[in-house]
Amino acid sequence: MAGAHEQWSSRLAFIFAAVGSAVGLGNIWRFPYMAGENGGAAFVLVYIGFIAVVGLPVLIAELTVGRRGKLSPTNSIRKLSEESGSSSKWGWIGHLASLTGGLGLLSLYSVIAGWVLAYIIKTATATFVGVDAAGAQAMVGAYVGSPGTMVFWHFIFISLTVFVVARGINAGLEKVVTYLMPILFLLLLVLVGYAMAAGNFLEALSYLFTPDFSKINGTVLLNAIGQAFFSLSLGLGTMIAYGAYLPKSISIHRSAALIALADTGVALLAGLAIFPLVFAFGLSPSSGPTLIFEVLPIAFGQMPGGVVFGTMFFVLLGIAAITSSISMLEPAVSWFEEKQGITRVGAAIFGGTLAFVVGLLTVFSSNEWQSIIPLASLGVVEINGNPATYAEIISFIVSNLIMPVASLMLAIFVGWYVSRDHLRDELDLPEGGIFELWHVSIKYVAPVAIGVILVWGLMPQGEGLPVEEAAPVEISEEAQSTSDASEIQEISISSTE
Ligand code: PHE
Repeated sequence: MAGAHEQWSSRLAFIFAAVGSAVGLGNIWRFPYMAGENGGAAFVLVYIGFIAVVGLPVLIAELTVGRRGKLSPTNSIRKLSEESGSSSKWGWIGHLASLTGGLGLLSLYSVIAGWVLAYIIKTATATFVGVDAAGAQAMVGAYVGSPGTMVFWHFIFISLTVFVVARGINAGLEKVVTYLMPILFLLLLVLVGYAMAAGNFLEALSYLFTPDFSKINGTVLLNAIGQAFFSLSLGLGTMIAYGAYLPKSISIHRSAALIALADTGVALLAGLAIFPLVFAFGLSPSSGPTLIFEVLPIAFGQMPGGVVFGTMFFVLLGIAAITSSISMLEPAVSWFEEKQGITRVGAAIFGGTLAFVVGLLTVFSSNEWQSIIPLASLGVVEINGNPATYAEIISFIVSNLIMPVASLMLAIFVGWYVSRDHLRDELDLPEGGIFELWHVSIKYVAPVAIGVILVWGLMPQGEGLPVEEAAPVEISEEAQSTSDASEIQEISISSTE
């Protein structure tokens, strides 16, 4: 049970690990296109509001449960429920979050992150130089149309993740984030500087920060709160697991505020690194998940220094991805270790293998198995009015169901069932003030807000379903486009309109 007894060796190590988890593809790949698809600044504003009002309280709750329990998410929750005399069934939140959610998301995440690794090499070898829209799309089509290549990079990325997690908290996770997070910040600043110098920075600024409130509607709200959860790594047990290794001397509420601030800051900076390039070339900010893989190579392919800065960009994405993927595997691994008495190495390989195998569904649903549409004949599973592929279904289940359901249940558990004194003791706060504010948020505000999203999100098809985050939505379109040149044209037109 190495994990359960280890502790972060310093506050900085913990902050790097937690920020590393929060800052991921969610900030650099997902946030810009979500902002692009949901009206720009209006979305950004609502998103920041949700981070502060719902995300931060849930983040504090997860870290508190972890540190009080000092075990895997499931067993930490059980321990707290025993301590407060409530049912140990609450532990199921931990299973839902870490086993189904964490490994499920890892399976998808690794496919996208593998794609990023492949693009590091493509950019560094100047493949994108002089490429136009059709060329960039053809490259995306070629990538998602070759399952062998996708499986290869998916395997490489999962293996890296397993390797780090297998080494434990101090020699694995902490070491990696301590090296990589400073590099990540540096790369991001360099890229914002480059975008300032070479792109259309002013247009990007006004796009991100001049809200048009008429653009806020139900869908924008749903997407914004979903993005807030996704970005802060909530609802998958990650922050409970990381809290378990937190020494008592570190302030949870201050750390949480810092994590939320850094996470939001990175998302905004990523927007400022990406949109100036998009605008400089008259490309579309709302082209969806392809923004990074299809639109940016066009910009990098034409700009001075594009090879160097383009490579830096994909390295940045790769770093952001690995410091997040390790945090998706850790909660499950800590539970396997405790429960099954297997070693950490064995647990990491086991969890990684599960995620790898499930990830194959994502890979093949973008090409070979694209026509196999589960349940479509029953008319049950439709996303955005279209029959859904495996990848879309997994993505939908994790980000639109597991994350909010687990967070809602945790908020109810912490707000209504865990003793107030234990919480205050763990947070090391006096009655009133910050503690009261947080307690009201976790007891009333968060459950109501999340409950509303869930009801909205589960409403029958149409406007209410925030499914744009699913990378594979785009994979499947692109895979189709490889088979028919005229469709490339069509997609190209619609994505730049
Ligand atoms: N926060 C990560 C990102 O933005 C994703 C993540 C979600 C990581 C949940 C761990 C748990 O990419």
